[in-house]
Amino acid sequence: MPVNSPFNTASPQAAEIASLYWFVLGICIFLLVVVVGSLTFILIRYRGSRGHEASKRQENVLLEVAWTAIPLLMVGAIFGYTLHTMHLVYPPAGNRAPDIRIVAHQWFWEVHYPQLDVSTANEIHVPVGQDLLFMLNSADVIHDFWVPRLDRKIDVTPAYPVHLWMHVTKPGVYLGTCAEYCGAGHAYMRIRVVAQAPDEFAAWAAEQAKPHATPTTQDAIDGEKIFTSRTCANCHAVKGTSADGDVGPDLTHLGSRSTIASGAADNTPEKLSQWLKKPDSIKPGSHMPNLQLSDAEVRKLVAYLEG
Ligand code: CUA
Repeated sequence: MPVNSPFNTASPQAAEIASLYWFVLGICIFLLVVVVGSLTFILIRYRGSRGHEASKRQENVLLEVAWTAIPLLMVGAIFGYTLHTMHLVYPPAGNRAPDIRIVAHQWFWEVHYPQLDVSTANEIHVPVGQDLLFMLNSADVIHDFWVPRLDRKIDVTPAYPVHLWMHVTKPGVYLGTCAEYCGAGHAYMRIRVVAQAPDEFAAWAAEQAKPHATPTTQDAIDGEKIFTSRTCANCHAVKGTSADGDVGPDLTHLGSRSTIASGAADNTPEKLSQWLKKPDSIKPGSHMPNLQLSDAEVRKLVAYLEG
């Protein structure tokens, strides 16, 4: 089973969806065999026929009832099983407050944990073995949140929040992506769900809730000045500084993430430098502007952000 296959499931929701898929596929294979099988039989059985007028036939009630009833039963079974799966995968949220709030942007995912006072982007940490309610919204166009091994796809539309239940059973990193074409950076709108044991998750959340680490090296101190005084702070937030923009991802704990630019590159000082100098070379069409930074400015910003 390929690692990221939707059939290599890691949640009850994904397992239900996978069984529905196999059920529908089974019915489709049955139809294929009946249709192609009878066609092949007729072609072979009557291959020597030189053609003749069709014989007149009276109506055959049994045949007509059969070819109406059997497809009706099949469609009915698919409909019933689909309703059953939707009910299991998608129970009503009632008045429950969401555990995780996600805002889709061109082209990244803003992630908030309202009860934990944590904000991050693109890498969604979750505790295993818990029912989590996600609330998703879009800041601009229609996106689609999809982590195949964990859950259904769900369209994310501006001004119309939707809910998603997630319950991850096995620790691990689960890859997902935006599944609705949303512009130039669509292919680089990746998702990583990092499922952890509850105590590891709690430790991660406690770290993330803290303000940013106070810069200690001279480069990092200068980097913070550049960050808060130049355009960076208009779009990005760093908790504990005056930077509180929400146009781009929250960068408070950028150093703790494994990728940058929503999964377009690994989070290394080299890649981050390249991103700051020439965003388009990592993610074509990105809204991250090229600020014409000098090499020294880039070095200081990298020291600050990775710290
Ligand atoms: Cu967002 Cu495609």
